[in-house]
Amino acid sequence: MGNLRWLTAGESHGPGLVGILEGMPAGVPLTAEDIRRDLSRRQQGYGRGRRQEIESDEAEILSGIRDGLTLGSPIALLIRNRDWENWREIMAVDQVADHGRRRLTRPRPGHADLSGGLKYGHQDLRNVLERSSARETAARVALGAAARRFLEELGIQVFAHVTAIGDAAADPERMAPWHPEAGRGRLPRLDVAALRRRIEASPVRTLDAGAEAAMLAAVDRARDDLESIGGVFEVVALGVPPGLGSHVHWDRRADARIAQAMMSIQAMKGVEIGAGFEAARRPGSRVHDEIFYDPDVGYYRETNRAGGIEGGMTNGEPVVVRVAMKPIPTLRRPLRSVDMETHEPVEAARERSDTCAVPRAAVVGEAMLCLVLADLVLEKFGGDSLAEVRRNLDAYRESLARR
Ligand SMILES: Cc1cc2nc3c(=O)[nH]c(=O)nc-3n(C[C@H](O)[C@H](O)[C@H](O)COP(=O)(O)O)c2cc1C
Repeated sequence: MGNLRWLTAGESHGPGLVGILEGMPAGVPLTAEDIRRDLSRRQQGYGRGRRQEIESDEAEILSGIRDGLTLGSPIALLIRNRDWENWREIMAVDQVADHGRRRLTRPRPGHADLSGGLKYGHQDLRNVLERSSARETAARVALGAAARRFLEELGIQVFAHVTAIGDAAADPERMAPWHPEAGRGRLPRLDVAALRRRIEASPVRTLDAGAEAAMLAAVDRARDDLESIGGVFEVVALGVPPGLGSHVHWDRRADARIAQAMMSIQAMKGVEIGAGFEAARRPGSRVHDEIFYDPDVGYYRETNRAGGIEGGMTNGEPVVVRVAMKPIPTLRRPLRSVDMETHEPVEAARERSDTCAVPRAAVVGEAMLCLVLADLVLEKFGGDSLAEVRRNLDAYRESLARR
């Protein structure tokens, strides 16, 4: 809705990526290290291509932070592309070269090449590819790190883990207690730091150690077959107060805003909240989470099939979002395509590429959920400084205790 606004700019092989985050309150502790940590996490994960080894992303903070605290002014940051040197001529702003034979004219099925070329009238599909590339997600992750710090200060924790790569899926029986189907009493206190350590220790970012080998094998098989492979990740937010978002209008609904944010990540093709598509197969009594009350904790649920959102509003349970990623479109054994210059059948273009980016996409999903939740928090609790937001949130929590 726009209490918190964010923009990115930059081409994949241009001088760098730019991110701007506008609306962050003053007084949020934020360091270059907070941002570097998430950027580095986005670069790790089994199935990477060579490019990730060339680049180690660092964000230069250009504005909005002083003495380790946000100022309330726009946060602007720049992530330089490390291999820009090799692309100076191809990506020059002024015309310094005739791209002639280097022009890309063989659109890749599954990528933005053909539609973008037709829409913008480009003769060289590089003019599409450079911006449609998921390199752009580095800027989102950097901005998401700022939103994450803000949420953490309010006791909200966001993390993501991979639940499937191809048909190698984590076992729902082993799922953590926030999971819609992990029959539980009241949500136990989770050791989020320990969960994060387990996720970080897994090369495919999975919490199910039993499924990890099958996931790794699925990536290896895809690589050996000159294939690519997709999968599913789940993003979870704990400590979210009830009442973020609203039922009153379509674009105020928290679930709608989260779904849009996830679908905006390159290659994401499906979003489920809570039980998601499974809810369509079950009778109502096995979908809806019954309501209980305990004077010590207030209202609570014993299941979380709603994934923490009912009527477009958070309900105080963990927010659980699953996102499906299609396989990467750039294949080492290219699919059939048509040359846009000659209209002859050809093999699609090849670019340096990953085999599987699901573990890295999970980090982007975290960033997007952080940004949307921070926006929703600011919408409800306002405030120009962290202290003011906290006061408003504390007063609200206190009022809930009397309801
Ligand atoms: C983290 C991440 C890394 C990706 N890496 C590649 C890649 O190396 N090669 C590629 O062709 N697509 C890659 N993609 C996917 C494409 O960007 C995506 O398929 C393309 O934008 C078209 O998807 P769309 O139809 O959802 O827009 C990656 C996506 C993500 C999220």
